[in-house]
Amino acid sequence: MSPQPQTFRAPVGTHDVIGPESAQWENLIALFAETAYRYGFELVISPLFEDVGVFNRGIGEHSEVATKEMYVFEDRGGRTLALRPEGTASVVRAFVQHQPTTPWKAWYVTPAFRYERPQAGRYRQHHQIGVEVLGTDDPAVDVEVISMAWRFFAALGLTRYRLLINSMGHDECRGAYVELLRSYLATRAGDLCDEHQKVWSENPLRVLDCKKTPCIEVTNTGPMLPDHICDECRTHFEAVIAALSELGVEATLNPRLVRGFDYYTRTTFEFVADALDGAQNAIGGGGRYDKLAEQLGAKPTSGIGFGCGIERLLLTRAAENEGPLDLLRRTLDCFVVDTTGENAATLLLDELRSAGVAADRAYDNRSMKSQMKVADKSGARFALLVGPQELAAGQVTIRDLRSQDFAQSQQTTPRDDIVATVLNLLTK
Ligand code: HAM
Repeated sequence: MSPQPQTFRAPVGTHDVIGPESAQWENLIALFAETAYRYGFELVISPLFEDVGVFNRGIGEHSEVATKEMYVFEDRGGRTLALRPEGTASVVRAFVQHQPTTPWKAWYVTPAFRYERPQAGRYRQHHQIGVEVLGTDDPAVDVEVISMAWRFFAALGLTRYRLLINSMGHDECRGAYVELLRSYLATRAGDLCDEHQKVWSENPLRVLDCKKTPCIEVTNTGPMLPDHICDECRTHFEAVIAALSELGVEATLNPRLVRGFDYYTRTTFEFVADALDGAQNAIGGGGRYDKLAEQLGAKPTSGIGFGCGIERLLLTRAAENEGPLDLLRRTLDCFVVDTTGENAATLLLDELRSAGVAADRAYDNRSMKSQMKVADKSGARFALLVGPQELAAGQVTIRDLRSQDFAQSQQTTPRDDIVATVLNLLTK
């Protein structure tokens, strides 16, 4: 007896997306592509892996993602590379490399890899749709990017989502704030959560982000970032908030929102869905990163963007009891039933598909009855029947699969006219 071949499953924390769920992905990505086009963005595709330095310098080598979650490996040429844990650093690296004219408005859809503890809504490979704008610090861009995501969620059918916003200030005012926070935390270090009692001084901002009660209580009575940003950053932030309000986009100030990557400056934001479990309820996040391009070797160039998790957006739709997204025409027009034993179906399908008709067939020379069963299941509007009789007479029988009455709904058409006839029937 030959040994059973080894079987494999998708790695822990990853998943296959197959039908019918994949149709939801297709719809969501198409809607995002169309939205991005309407807002003046162009698609950018960059490698899934980069020199590890792109991410270390971009998201910060001491960030949790860089230290604990990044997939770092050496290739056969001895280069140290990393799978992208997020989209922004690579897009900015591409900007620095190609120097497109600014403002450069790029959108993307990409897998992202983080070695996390897998749970519902948290994966080791997740997928993001996102945008980045480089080359302007106009607050109007902050407003455009944030409202674009807001409107996109509505177009997806989501109803219960909120926008949390904060300003991180720029290098100098944030630097001064971090020192203030550090001095304050030094007086309360013993009251922090177990983890932060040890590491608070490395990056005091992380303590603000901690969801544990001791850290929340300590920071509640400490200095808050928005009270300590400089006048210029404050003016920028107020302009963003005012314009969002004029657009009817409700923003809630969250002074604790510092986000997980070091590149952020000024406006930072997160979208949370109330229908999702608290720990994984961020459906999107983003902000300004006015120093990132410079850190990756360009002249000073402002930037801002957001990324949204595709899985979480679809989980939110499901949790809000939204039915399947059906923005794309994804039903078959025709199903060809060929019992001639020749290649009638092959020729017919080639003509139909070239004319823009969505059409399929059964294979393996099955009986008429068995092929009709598949045709019924396929959801096609019409079955096109070609048997030996039709072949000899140069005809095709068209049956409307939505009609109960075969005799009424069936018609025979000359083979040469079939494409025109089908196109005509589909308009009715
Ligand atoms: P992020 O907040 O790390 O930001 O990720 C963006 C979104 O990706 C999250 O809001 C969430 O929906 C989804 N996400 C993140 N990690 C996971 C995971 N392990 N499993 C499932 N979904 C996940 C960024 O990545 C920034 N690059 C966003 C940005 C763009 N900032 C400026 N421009």
